[in-house]
Amino acid sequence: MTLKDIFKHNEQWVAQKLNTDPQYFEKLAKGQHPQILYIGCSDSRVTAEDLMGAQPGEIFIHRNVANLVVSTDNNLNAVVQYAVEHLKVKHIVICGHYECGGVKAALNPSDMGQLNSWLQTLRDVYRLHRTELDAISNDHKRFDRLVELNVLEQCINVIKIDHVQRAWYQTGFPKIHGWVFDVRTGKLIDLGLNMEKEFGEIRTIYDLKPLNKEK
Ligand code: CO
Repeated sequence: MTLKDIFKHNEQWVAQKLNTDPQYFEKLAKGQHPQILYIGCSDSRVTAEDLMGAQPGEIFIHRNVANLVVSTDNNLNAVVQYAVEHLKVKHIVICGHYECGGVKAALNPSDMGQLNSWLQTLRDVYRLHRTELDAISNDHKRFDRLVELNVLEQCINVIKIDHVQRAWYQTGFPKIHGWVFDVRTGKLIDLGLNMEKEFGEIRTIYDLKPLNKEK
C-alpha cells in the first residue's frame, strides 16, 4: 500500500459513510461514548477495530509493542485515567496475539538496544511463570503460552492502577478481560480470566483502598 492509496481509500470511505447516512460525520463530531478500552499490540496484523467489527466511536484504543501495561508509562496511564474517569468505560480489554514478535524476543534473549528496557517486562512475565513455561517442551506451544500469560500479567497490572481501583470500589466497573487474537485463524479468543479472583490473591500487596477512602 502506498501513501497515495491511503488518501484514495479515505475518500472512498467518506463517500461510503455519507451514502448510508448524510449526517454521519456531523453526528461523529458531537462526541464519543465508548464502553470499552482496548489495549493491544502495535503489530500491523492485529487491526483492532477491523477484527472486532467496531465502528468509529465504539472503542477507545491504546496500542504498544506486546500490549504491555507498564506503571511508569505516562502515555498508558493517561489513556487509562481518561477512559475510566471521563469516558467511564465499563470494560478494559488486554488483547495479546499469537506470533507476537515482542513476546518471541523475550523468549530469545539478546541485546536489542532501545527495546531492552521495554522487553524487560516480558522477561519478568517469563520469570514469574518459569516453572510452567520451562515444562513445555514444544517451542511453539511455549511461545503461545507466554502470549497468554503475558495477557494475564498485563490484566493484573491494570488492577494495580489507582484510577482503576477507585472506579472499581465506587461502581464495580471497569471489568477487566484478557483476550488473544489468533493471527493463524483470525479468531478472537476470550481467555476467561477471573480478575476478581486474581486480585483477591494479591490484594494485600496492591490494594489501594486507603487512597480511595480519602476521596
Ligand atoms: Co505483538
